[in-house]
Amino acid sequence: MKQVAIVTGGARGIGRACALDLARQGFDIALVDLLEEEMAATAADILALGRDVRTYQADVVLHGRACEIVRDVHSAFGQIDFLLNNAGQSQPKGILETTEDEFDRGMAINLKSCFNYIQHAAPIMLEQGRGRIVSMSSLNALSGGVTAAVSKFAYAAAKAGILGMTRALAKELGPTIAINAICPGVILTEVGTDVTARESEIVKGIALGRLGCADDVARLVTFLATSEPCFITGQTFVVDGFQFNV
Ligand SMILES: NC(=O)c1ccc[n+]([C@@H]2O[C@H](COP(=O)([O-])OP(=O)(O)OC[C@H]3O[C@@H](n4cnc5c(N)ncnc54)[C@H](O)[C@@H]3O)[C@@H](O)[C@H]2O)c1
Repeated sequence: MKQVAIVTGGARGIGRACALDLARQGFDIALVDLLEEEMAATAADILALGRDVRTYQADVVLHGRACEIVRDVHSAFGQIDFLLNNAGQSQPKGILETTEDEFDRGMAINLKSCFNYIQHAAPIMLEQGRGRIVSMSSLNALSGGVTAAVSKFAYAAAKAGILGMTRALAKELGPTIAINAICPGVILTEVGTDVTARESEIVKGIALGRLGCADDVARLVTFLATSEPCFITGQTFVVDGFQFNV
């Protein structure tokens, strides 16, 4: 059976791994990202897996653009089975240094973006009588951050907002749509994170003895997108190898 997924922030990192894993499971993919070149490379890899792909260069904070993109995906593919709200950006800045504009932008990239794409995709899924949504939160939403030295309070707030929104929307959109959130711990992606220098120190506090990789998250995303029958919604899944020094 044909399946179609929208993946925001799918050009690189965790989003790219999720898009490729979904494509391997037979999904056609719509990628939304700011990065044109990286997105084209991911699209080429999806095509090489024998799946169809469309790319949309866009800023996920734009509500009107989200509406256009979701409509275009629907008219091109005829259905939308899965939405992955993955685009996000951490903000390593304390409350005393963060400007109002920076706070608003962080909330928009990490939280409003989810509202934008869910609001436009949900009516299509409700009409179809089926749909799955996953939004990428962060361990920061639960722990407040890996160290006190690098405050990410605005990021933590936005990512925690995703968890509340997910629970409320599970009630509002059930029984037709299942919606869940994932909180990755420290995940090394190909572009790297700010933790490489402190890797050995961080790993000491991870029960499974390593940092995560994008495929660790992608496996769970694919499970939540495809498991049948579905009896999981409104949940928060932590993928962190059990990090106990946070
Ligand atoms: N890597 C980690 O350790 C980690 C941990 C917890 C949560 N996360 C979350 O996982 C998601 C993916 O993270 P990643 O590590 O792969 O990051 P990344 O920076 O490698 O990838 C993020 C992707 O989102 C895109 N993006 C960012 N802002 C955008 C915008 N305004 N409009 C459109 N596209 C935008 C980027 O261009 C990029 O392709 C993010 O939501 C991040 O907050 C990551």
